[in-house]
Amino acid sequence: MNDTNKMLLERYVQEIEKQLLKFTEEKPELQGIVCEAMQYSLMAGGKRLRPVLVLEFYRMCGGKDADSIIDIACAIELIHTFSLIHDDLPCMDNDDFRRGKPSCHKAFPENIALLAGDALNTLAFEVISNAALDGRISAEAAVMLISVLSKAVGVEGMIGGQVMDLMSEGKDIDIETLNRLQSCKTGALIEAACVMGVILAGKFEMIPSAADYASALGRAFQIVDDLLDVNGTFEELGKPIGSDSEQNKSTYVSLLGVDRSKQIAAQLTMQALGYLSKFDNNEFLSEMTDDLLSRRN
Ligand code: IPE
Ligand code: IPE
Ligand code: MG
Ligand code: MG
Ligand code: MG
Repeated sequence: MNDTNKMLLERYVQEIEKQLLKFTEEKPELQGIVCEAMQYSLMAGGKRLRPVLVLEFYRMCGGKDADSIIDIACAIELIHTFSLIHDDLPCMDNDDFRRGKPSCHKAFPENIALLAGDALNTLAFEVISNAALDGRISAEAAVMLISVLSKAVGVEGMIGGQVMDLMSEGKDIDIETLNRLQSCKTGALIEAACVMGVILAGKFEMIPSAADYASALGRAFQIVDDLLDVNGTFEELGKPIGSDSEQNKSTYVSLLGVDRSKQIAAQLTMQALGYLSKFDNNEFLSEMTDDLLSRRN
């Protein structure tokens, strides 16, 4: 990434983290511990890819007032963080570290971590509906956003993908099933992020192109995640290495091996860049998309 784009990304991340902190500022007396757990996981770091995608699609589609929709962009990070807290639980991937820190259920009691995930899930939808009640977005836009996001989280989206992931442990699945699994568990939220940015800018005719881009990026992104589980280090990733093979997960690496997985991730990145070329002002996101292929965390 060139220096200007690096600075732009840093600015995005700063604004996103400022907003994320606001979500859990108030901690009610009796149930404050769940807000502490939410804040702990929200503020533990992470690339903030999904809210950046919302903001960039909004900008590329002509959106001019990012400050007024930053909380909606962050709603998807609330969902993502919920998915990570639950993904790490002993009954799921049983991973003790996330974003370089003890996982939520290691820093807090397991029951509180579970509930923090649940509360992050509902908070995302509260944030979107509040934006309509405040008059910052129309009621119609709010319904569209809630529709897109709720589908991306549910049985046809991330949660469904996590179910397929669990059911595929220790099994020989074919590549079509793996693609379906990964496009649900990872692709769905990435797609929702891109489409939400387009909706917020009101340029609805670009939704199919945003979805095409997201589908290719989402697949490349999860393949790189699978590769990093084999090739990465704990210091780089902030989460345990070798977790997939320990749990007998079906991944690109387990099905096709490292070299073929790398090739496919590169092809998908090229495809994603092709779809992105349909958008004006795509220089920043093109560079970011390219960088995600060689990411080390
Ligand atoms: C990790 O997502 C889980 C996957 C869907 C692969 P990220 O790699 O975006 O995690 P953070 O947000 O940067 O920690
Ligand atoms: C999880 O995929 C995707 C989610 C829906 C959270 P992984 O289980 O591979 O994610 P990591 O490697 O733990 O981040
Ligand atoms: Mg998992
Ligand atoms: Mg995991
Ligand atoms: Mg993984």
